[in-house]
Amino acid sequence: MRILLYRGDGEIGAWAEDLARALPGAETVGWQEGETLPACDHAVLWNPAPSLLPQLAQLKAVFLMGAGADAILKFGDALPDVPIVRLGDTGMAVQMAEYVAYATLRYFRRFDEYEEQARHGLWTPLPAHEKEDFTVGVMGLGKLGLRVVETMRSFGFPVRGWSRTPKELPGVDCFAGMEALDAFLSGTRVLVSLLPLTNETNNLLDRRRLSTLPRGSYVINVARGAQLAEPDLLTLIRAGHIAGATLDVFRNEPLPAPHPFWEEPRITITPHISAITIRGEAVRQIAEKIAAFEAGNPVDDIVDRNLGY
Ligand code: NAP
Ligand code: GLV
Repeated sequence: MRILLYRGDGEIGAWAEDLARALPGAETVGWQEGETLPACDHAVLWNPAPSLLPQLAQLKAVFLMGAGADAILKFGDALPDVPIVRLGDTGMAVQMAEYVAYATLRYFRRFDEYEEQARHGLWTPLPAHEKEDFTVGVMGLGKLGLRVVETMRSFGFPVRGWSRTPKELPGVDCFAGMEALDAFLSGTRVLVSLLPLTNETNNLLDRRRLSTLPRGSYVINVARGAQLAEPDLLTLIRAGHIAGATLDVFRNEPLPAPHPFWEEPRITITPHISAITIRGEAVRQIAEKIAAFEAGNPVDDIVDRNLGY
């Protein structure tokens, strides 16, 4: 069996070593712009170059090195009709829970304000926020969102969730579909996006929807930058309607140097690290899926191209 390994944004050497250990007998090959891909059975890749796409038509399946499928599905009809398999939870859910818990607690416990006070040598206890005023609203109740919901519930926050199809989760107010989005937002104090980027979620958080959040709300985007209308968020923060945001993902990454977010102290920026791919775990899972595929057994996490995730 021959497997193409490709990363549009990095090295594949360590992936090749791990995959050779996990799938003894499989040969891995790389690819560079201008080359013709030799006959391969599968690809394990991330951020494919447009010129690689036609050559993927010969494959049995493409396995992604990450959870989101948007970077490959964006090619639409140029993408050959082979199954695309994304990563399931390979240690990302707990990282998301850590990140969202940190960002929420930093705002809720006023640590951001205490950090600022300490810089000025100030010893001034502030009134504590009430937990019942701090409903955490999680958009996307998939592998990552569910772990975040569970974690925030364990701290005693009221939690609500929004998904495409209806859900019933113990102790969580569940909302589903576009028709329920305004109701979901209007009772959310800390908004967390863990939605895939699709035609439906692109620009979803625009000025009108962000204005539907109660005054003093906080936004945490750990999904994809294109879901959020960046100028609208900035306007609402400057107007005092939204208290601040912790953002891990942006419309253009790396976030360009002159972007106004860099200058806004109420926005905390991280460079797309809220849940990184843990290579060892990912390779183990991909190897199991390739073996299942070859044996004709069901494979989890096949992307639905119509839904876009
Ligand atoms: P997932 O298991 O596929 O879950 C997606 C959730 O979003 C599901 O609950 C789905 O609803 C919901 N959803 C999709 N379209 C919707 C719509 N139009 N309206 C309402 N809800 C909708 O995905 P996941 O593994 O949790 O990952 C979520 C996203 O996180 C990824 O797609 C990726 O973009 C992002 N991510 C970011 C990082 C990072 O480091 N920043 C790392 C990993 C992943 P149903 O349950 O009804 O299907
Ligand atoms: C990272 O953003 C991923 O989708 O895995």
